[in-house]
Amino acid sequence: MIAITGATGQLGRLVIDQLLQKIPADQLVALVRNPAKASDLQARGLQVRAADYTQPEALDVALHGVEKLLLISSSEVGHRLEQHRNVIEAAKKSSIKLLAYTSILNAQASQMDLAHEHRETEQLIRKSGVPFVFLRNGWYTENYTAGIPSALQFNVLLGSAGDGKISLAARADYAAAAAEVLTRDHQAGKIYELAGDTAYTLAEFAAELSRQTGKNIPYSNLPEAEYRGILQGAGLPDWLASLLASSDASAAQGALFDASHQLSQLIGRTTTPLADTIKVALAQGGSPSGH
Ligand SMILES: NC(=O)c1ccc[n+]([C@@H]2O[C@H](COP(=O)([O-])OP(=O)(O)OC[C@H]3O[C@@H](n4cnc5c(N)ncnc54)[C@H](OP(=O)(O)O)[C@@H]3O)[C@@H](O)[C@H]2O)c1
Repeated sequence: MIAITGATGQLGRLVIDQLLQKIPADQLVALVRNPAKASDLQARGLQVRAADYTQPEALDVALHGVEKLLLISSSEVGHRLEQHRNVIEAAKKSSIKLLAYTSILNAQASQMDLAHEHRETEQLIRKSGVPFVFLRNGWYTENYTAGIPSALQFNVLLGSAGDGKISLAARADYAAAAAEVLTRDHQAGKIYELAGDTAYTLAEFAAELSRQTGKNIPYSNLPEAEYRGILQGAGLPDWLASLLASSDASAAQGALFDASHQLSQLIGRTTTPLADTIKVALAQGGSPSGH
C-alpha cells in the first residue's frame, strides 16, 4: 500500500489524482490532519486515516500495513523539523520500505531560508535508516500566479527577484513526479532535483501576464525589506511576508534556477509552460494559490 501525507493539501490531492491513473484506489491511503476534509477522497475509494504530524501515536497507527510513504513537507514553517521527525520515527517503527520526501531544490547547498528545515529533515531521514528518495522540488508557478489579483488591481507586479531566472513548473508537474517515483521500482537512494524546463524572470512573468490580459503590467523590482513591508501592509502575516521576500531575494541570486531537466525526464513530457499556468489562474480569477 502507498500512503500520502498532507493528502487534503493542494499537492497531495494532485498526487492522488495521478496515482489513481496508475493503481487502484484500494491500494492508496490518504493520511490527513483533518478527516472531515477528506470525504471526497473516501468517496473515491481511498482509505482515509488521521495522521497529524504532531501526534506520534496516531502516526504509528496510521502507517499500519503501508509499504511506501510520501511525506509531503508540512506547511507549518518553523515547526516542520519536529513534525517531520514524528513521521520519520513512525516510518522506522513500521518498517516502511520507501520514504519519499518533498524537499527543496538543491537542498544541501541552497542559501534560501526555507532550505534549513528541508536540509535537516533530509539528515534525519538518512540517519533513520529508512530507505528514502528525495524529491527536491523547485518553485511552483502557482507561487506567483497567486499574486495576479493584486498585480491586476495595481497594474504592476512587485517582487525582489531582480533578473534571477526561476525554473518554474506547475504544482501538477511535481505531483506527477511523485506519483512516478512511488510506482517505480528501485527508487531507494535516489535524489531528484526537480524544476521546470524553462526558467523565467519576473519581468518575463509580467510580460506574459500583460499579453494575456491586454493590460500593461510591468515588473517593479524592490529591495527585499521594502517588498516585505508591502506584503505585510497588504495583510500577510509577518512570517509569510518575510519568507516570500527572502525567497525572491535568493531567487535573484539564482537559488531557484536549474537546468538539469530531471523533472521532465521523470514525467516523460515537458513541464507546463508559464503561459498555461497563467491562463488557468486567470480563468479562476487569479488563483490557484501558492502558499
Ligand atoms: N515548492 C514550492 O514552490 C512550494 C510552495 C509552497 C509550499 N511548499 C511546500 O510543499 C508542501 C505541499 O505544498 P501544497 O501546495 O500542497 O501546500 P498546502 O496546500 O498548504 O498543503 C499542506 C498540507 O500539509 C498538511 N499539514 C500541515 N500541517 C500538518 C500537520 N500538523 N499534520 C498533518 N498534516 C499537516 C495540510 O493539512 P490540512 O489540509 O489539514 O491543512 C495540507 O494538507 C507545503 O506544505 C510546503 O511545505 C512548496
